[in-house]
Amino acid sequence: MMMAMDKNQLIGKAGGLPWHVPGDLAYFKRVTMGKPVIMGRKTFDSIGKPLPGRTNVVVTRNSQWQAEGVLVAHDIAEAMELARNICLTSDTKAAEMMVIGGAGLNREAMPLTQRLYLTVIDHAYEGDTWLDSFQWSDWSVVSEEVQDPANTGGLSVTYWVLDKSIR
Ligand SMILES: NC(=O)c1ccc[n+]([C@@H]2O[C@H](COP(=O)([O-])OP(=O)(O)OC[C@H]3O[C@@H](n4cnc5c(N)ncnc54)[C@H](OP(=O)(O)O)[C@@H]3O)[C@@H](O)[C@H]2O)c1
Repeated sequence: MMMAMDKNQLIGKAGGLPWHVPGDLAYFKRVTMGKPVIMGRKTFDSIGKPLPGRTNVVVTRNSQWQAEGVLVAHDIAEAMELARNICLTSDTKAAEMMVIGGAGLNREAMPLTQRLYLTVIDHAYEGDTWLDSFQWSDWSVVSEEVQDPANTGGLSVTYWVLDKSIR
């Protein structure tokens, strides 16, 4: 899974992102490129088009829903099966499938997630959607990279890579 949140675990505002953080979208692109990306239908609507260079799997309960350039799944298991087949058969041989939100889809995907690429912006924004399925105590730190605030418009941004703790 790959997500960005603020200090209160906020991830969304009015169908979009609450912030513009220079560098975060480039990081998102670098980590997800070549891998299948699984997203909720509302997140797809907010992006507005398929992410290039990645097989896009959109999850919806609406059996009529379709969009050009994406695969459609009707539950998380079907989405993961589609993405798994891409990992096994595509030229890129992607090592990971990536769940990229939003909060609704993540509630079901979080228990299945082994690795989380989590960007934390140390600021409190206004918004309406939170990553309520995440708690730090479930995760072990693989790596942590603090961005130079000179490159983020003065914001304190940390890129965490976390693995699910074994209990
Ligand atoms: N900060 C970040 O990293 C980040 C990342 C992604 C998104 N966001 C933000 O998060 C917000 C969107 O998140 P959200 O929670 O409102 O929506 P979402 O999770 O993107 O999409 C929810 C929709 O996905 C479908 N869905 C979810 N779980 C499903 C399941 N188990 N089976 C079948 N369909 C399922 C349903 O679509 P139907 O209604 O079509 O049935 C549901 O209404 C936006 O503001 C977006 O910008 C932020």
